[in-house]
Amino acid sequence: MQTARTIIALEHDAQGVALRWDDGLRSRFHVLWLRDNCPCPQCRHPQALERTFMFIDHTAPSIRSATLRADEVLEIEFRAGDESHLSRYTKGWLRAHGYSENQTRDRPCTPQLWDAGIAYRLPCIDYTDYMQTNAGLRAWIEGARTQGIVLLRGVPQQPGQLLEVARRIGPVRASNFGEYYDVVSRPNPNASAYTSMGLELHTDLANWHAPPDVQLLFCLKSSVLGGESVFADGFRVAEDLRAADQEAFNLLSTHDIEYRFHDHTCDIRTNAPVIEVNREGRLARIRFNNWLRGVMVGPEKLIEPMYKALATFWRMLRNPKYRLELRLEPGHLIAYNNNRVLHGRAPFDASSGERHLQGCYLNQEDVDSALRLLERQQA
Ligand code: OGA
Ligand code: ZN
Ligand code: ZN
Repeated sequence: MQTARTIIALEHDAQGVALRWDDGLRSRFHVLWLRDNCPCPQCRHPQALERTFMFIDHTAPSIRSATLRADEVLEIEFRAGDESHLSRYTKGWLRAHGYSENQTRDRPCTPQLWDAGIAYRLPCIDYTDYMQTNAGLRAWIEGARTQGIVLLRGVPQQPGQLLEVARRIGPVRASNFGEYYDVVSRPNPNASAYTSMGLELHTDLANWHAPPDVQLLFCLKSSVLGGESVFADGFRVAEDLRAADQEAFNLLSTHDIEYRFHDHTCDIRTNAPVIEVNREGRLARIRFNNWLRGVMVGPEKLIEPMYKALATFWRMLRNPKYRLELRLEPGHLIAYNNNRVLHGRAPFDASSGERHLQGCYLNQEDVDSALRLLERQQA
């Protein structure tokens, strides 16, 4: 961890250390926090780098001395009963982990909300660039994190090729539909996706406690009439709902809906709101899927308002101003944040040609991790 900033002053007492940086930032570090975060091989496993020090098993420490070495490494000698311990912290690490006010931390990425206008600036990447270059991989990750949607073109038209694409990021997240699934119209479908029906905008696996984060849809054949794809940024629509109809937004974000999928192999259910917000009130997840929606539960006084709020959100999703419509062609692989971007398709005439997509899922943790690995290479 590096920083161009310099530490210009150091003060300490038994209970902590205060640093002043050349840009005016002041950071204070508590004695226990410092001791707990000692990076030495006695306190962290030397290979695994995981914490082995257990502060609960030691007497409360105090700081005996704190000095700044010529290479700007902070050296602290702790005392705890009869024990003493020497710890060293680089300035880059201190700068990155400080918790004082005004200290900027590694923030989660801010989504760039979009509407139908994204059609002119949809992130598109060539398969070969994605598979073979860091720049291509990085562009894909940034599209997935920022817009929440990214299109790969020129993917070799081999069944299963989507797994190669997925594994460039991390392990595939399996579900009751397998590691990946074939989206084709089938004689005895166990899911709406395996018919030729149109699919209203939805998020996948809304019936799971934690639906998959990223969905990959790979097109192998698309010669049928119809079957065009549609996407909408659920965060854009939910923010507009929050501004236009606070009551509907509050209901959809606080009252659970039941979602369920069942066939002869499983019966998977969860209760969760349509719109999930985090502790800061920011949007965290959209969960919307009409065919997986279960029976509405009470209390009685909320039945009608819930239907009304759901209808308001749903009508907004149908507004063309939010909808990205495109036709997936063979060799296209579109990936999107399934907790944010809703997807759907127009009905198609199965007798008019062929239509074959394959789908699979990835975890957001693996996407974020792939980005950090790229950054580590550049550092
Ligand atoms: C799906 C799905 C869309 C399509 O399989 O989850 O929504 O275009 N498919 O067939
Ligand atoms: Zn140590
Ligand atoms: Zn779907």
